[in-house]
Amino acid sequence: MNIAEADPQISDLIRQEEKRQATTLELIASENHVSKAVMEAAGTCLTNKYAEGYPGARYYGGCGFYDQIENLAIERAKKLFGCNFANVQPHSGANANLAAFMAMMNPGDPFVAINLASGGHLTHGMKLNASAIFYKPDFYELDPKTEQIDFDSVRRKAHEVKPKALLCGYSAYPRTIDFKKFREIADEVGAYLMADVAHIAGLIVGGAHPSPFPHAHVVTTTTHKTLRGPRGGLILTNDEEMAKKINQKVFPGTQGGPLMHIIAAKAVAFGEDLKPEFKTYAAQIVKNAKALAGALQRKGYRLQSGGTDNHLMLVDLRARNEHFTGADAEKALEAAGIICNKNAILNDPRPPKVTSGVRLGTPAVTTRGLKEADLEMVAEFIDRALLGKDDASALAKVRGEVAEFCGKFPMPH
Ligand SMILES: Cc1ncc(COP(=O)(O)O)c(C=O)c1O
Repeated sequence: MNIAEADPQISDLIRQEEKRQATTLELIASENHVSKAVMEAAGTCLTNKYAEGYPGARYYGGCGFYDQIENLAIERAKKLFGCNFANVQPHSGANANLAAFMAMMNPGDPFVAINLASGGHLTHGMKLNASAIFYKPDFYELDPKTEQIDFDSVRRKAHEVKPKALLCGYSAYPRTIDFKKFREIADEVGAYLMADVAHIAGLIVGGAHPSPFPHAHVVTTTTHKTLRGPRGGLILTNDEEMAKKINQKVFPGTQGGPLMHIIAAKAVAFGEDLKPEFKTYAAQIVKNAKALAGALQRKGYRLQSGGTDNHLMLVDLRARNEHFTGADAEKALEAAGIICNKNAILNDPRPPKVTSGVRLGTPAVTTRGLKEADLEMVAEFIDRALLGKDDASALAKVRGEVAEFCGKFPMPH
């Protein structure tokens, strides 16, 4: 029985969501639209089986095809990133980071990262997260003038704290990361360098951002952002001893049975990422981000750090209108069919649930085929929606135009 017959309620909600995705512009920097092949792999009989353990050493019988699938995912991940070891089992980016922490540190050990408000991820030491409950975080800063990583502050903090691990890689940072510089500082204090490249992984493998290898000891990423795979995590390293620890900390350290349908979908996505077309895609993401950034700046918006080198930008709305808030903007844009998230601007005086900015990213719209000129149009829609934020009919008008515009850019099939 298909889902429409078996469960019309859920089926109908899925259909509605499908329509929502097709008729809106997805500008959330951490999201993407996967191919039909990735989607298909994720929805297969592989969900039925336990495959605890690793290829060739499982705790359940009947894992022959699972071993082959996981080995393919591992081989493709290693080839993509040009490294020696990959663990493809983490259920999510947060799980990958927890296992990586356990591989690098003992409970109570100190680490240094950037905090959530400055663009870090909650798994990098937010007080309610396991990273802060079981380890001891301290934070380096952005330079208040350039709004980019302040390497003096990284070095100062590293020498002061003598961390076991130094973290780079962020959730809301629009500039290129200098992994070599981070490694120099990690070496000065004898720390592991961990690069969480969740956001920029697709740019890295597509040649649009420098690689964390050979600088980072441990690299973690999600697979569902710019890598354009299913939701999940991945851990990479060049060091054999570290690889053994990582495997042990993923299973049995933090997880039970791997999601083998998702691992198959990761393998399919990695196969796509290895194709030459993916390089073109990665380059286009950045070109589109620059086009959107430029268009918004010309309309009077300020961008944190003055622009973008990657797939995302932080838009300070106050420059356009001092009364604009991130929360209002997120709501007005959604009403207009443009999906994004509010985001704090550096030293934002407004609380995290309000903020003065939005984070915009181009990975998903680039998948749909938008090019630079189309991003100028997107900027126009954004500006009109924000200026008309209190006018329901103005928002409805933009919504109609956005839906029509989306019709020109079909979802992947
Ligand atoms: C830098 C970074 N690391 C880790 C994660 C966590 O990924 P997940 O949501 O899959 O746990 C994210 C998610 O946004 C992220 O931006």
